[in-house]
Amino acid sequence: MLSVEEVRSSLERAGQLHVLQFWPELSEDEKKTFLSELSQLDFDELREHCRGAAEAATRSTTKVDQKMEPVPLEFIGSVVKSDRDTINEWQNEGYLHISENQVAVLLLAGGQGTRLGVPYPKGMFNVGLPSSKTLYQIQAERICRVQQLANMKHGSKCIVPWYIMTSEFTLDPTKKFFEENKHFGLDPSNVVMFEQRMIPAVTFDGKVILQNKGKLAMAPDGNGGLYRALVDNQVLEDMQKRGVKYLHVYCVDNILVKMADPIFIGFCVSKQADCGAKVVQKASPEEPVGVVCRVDGVFQVVEYSELPLEAAEQRLPGGELRYSAGNICNHFFTLGFLQEVAQKFQSQLKQHVAVKKVPFVDKDGNMVNPTKPNGIKMEKFVFDVFQFSRRFVAFEVAREDEFSPLKNAAGAPLDTPSSARQSLLALHLRWVLAAGACFLEAPGGATRPRVTLEEETLVVCEISPLVSCSGEGLDLLLKDKMLTSPFLLDEKTAKQLLK
Ligand code: UTP
Repeated sequence: MLSVEEVRSSLERAGQLHVLQFWPELSEDEKKTFLSELSQLDFDELREHCRGAAEAATRSTTKVDQKMEPVPLEFIGSVVKSDRDTINEWQNEGYLHISENQVAVLLLAGGQGTRLGVPYPKGMFNVGLPSSKTLYQIQAERICRVQQLANMKHGSKCIVPWYIMTSEFTLDPTKKFFEENKHFGLDPSNVVMFEQRMIPAVTFDGKVILQNKGKLAMAPDGNGGLYRALVDNQVLEDMQKRGVKYLHVYCVDNILVKMADPIFIGFCVSKQADCGAKVVQKASPEEPVGVVCRVDGVFQVVEYSELPLEAAEQRLPGGELRYSAGNICNHFFTLGFLQEVAQKFQSQLKQHVAVKKVPFVDKDGNMVNPTKPNGIKMEKFVFDVFQFSRRFVAFEVAREDEFSPLKNAAGAPLDTPSSARQSLLALHLRWVLAAGACFLEAPGGATRPRVTLEEETLVVCEISPLVSCSGEGLDLLLKDKMLTSPFLLDEKTAKQLLK
């Protein structure tokens, strides 16, 4: 650990001496903790970081010019537009690799979830399903089921390891939650948690923000911090030891995420891709999602703010948006690609500016909870590695089947706990109806099947991922059954139905 004098002179050189303003007021314990935090900083890096952040915040967004083009058709697959046989081929290929222990999933769960605003990791959120399952539990059970299906198909005893990237905010509570819940039935040795780095939040004039008198305001370095975290924590070595070849990387907040989706894995492997992205059709030109496309011949995600309106509004002869490939943060990587990125490219990843409200201590020592943005957090994005891919593919999926993120607290117009819950219940209802069951209700005493779309939101129908994770096998259980809402199909009910 450095001495306070050493830290003082390094901070001075970095133009950040204000950090020690309250030093004389700290207790001995607080001094020790703060000094240990400050000793870990690379002060040259800090100077560059603060300078770069302040400069980046003044830059206006540049719109991408005409060299942009949509992903050419030969690099796109679609679950929506392909026939059943083709999808089955991809699926079989995916299950084969899963059964051979070559597929792992990697969850990005280091975010602070400021918009949702709960004081615990987003994965621990319960969106109010009849089962009360949290996002983490739903995901864990989908992994169990995928393993089981691969085993049934191939007579294997396979494992899909679950790598979970956390941050200072989410690691301890996530660990505890998994332990308390016995890892939701998974073997703890196959759930590997690791931590991403944190970087200081900075004011608009390039000064590190103090969260309190003895602590810097730190924030995780964005989900693109993944690549550095993989190196810091020797995660790639762990993957190699296990024989993992393919990774499915996803965000914690998409309640519909298909874990280790065999169709997506199979498609990417069959195209010999080293990097892939699932996309959904953009809902409208104004929808604020990034678009997967090519710029100057290089694949990348063009952010909503960088897409010129004329380009966003262009349509193909059939009426589809020309730039319609909405990025949903759901990716395929080969281990080889991740190794190459980690070794050669991760330090080149672009830094994005996020302007946020950062609680701080003012120069008079008062704690302030700002009501408008006061700080800059620099973030890297997981998708910024597409440019390094030798063979990139995009894969179109149906939004209503695969994408419904939980971003905002109740009351917001979009992406809330209730929209996430409704999307999952609606998907499960569609599976159940497709399996040949129907729902009954008794308006005015009469019983009738209830299947119309307008009534969908009234029916509560939840299927445990341990019974079916993508609608598979439900016809055996439910064909011609008359059900009543709320209907929860868990393992116990499934057994009874089979009798
Ligand atoms: P978001 O960009 O939606 O951020 O993250 P967030 O932290 O969840 O929420 P807000 O913006 O503060 O409200 C998309 C995904 O990337 C992960 C998140 O956990 C989520 O799965 N993420 C984000 C990280 O893993 N690390 C980060 O530094 C940031």
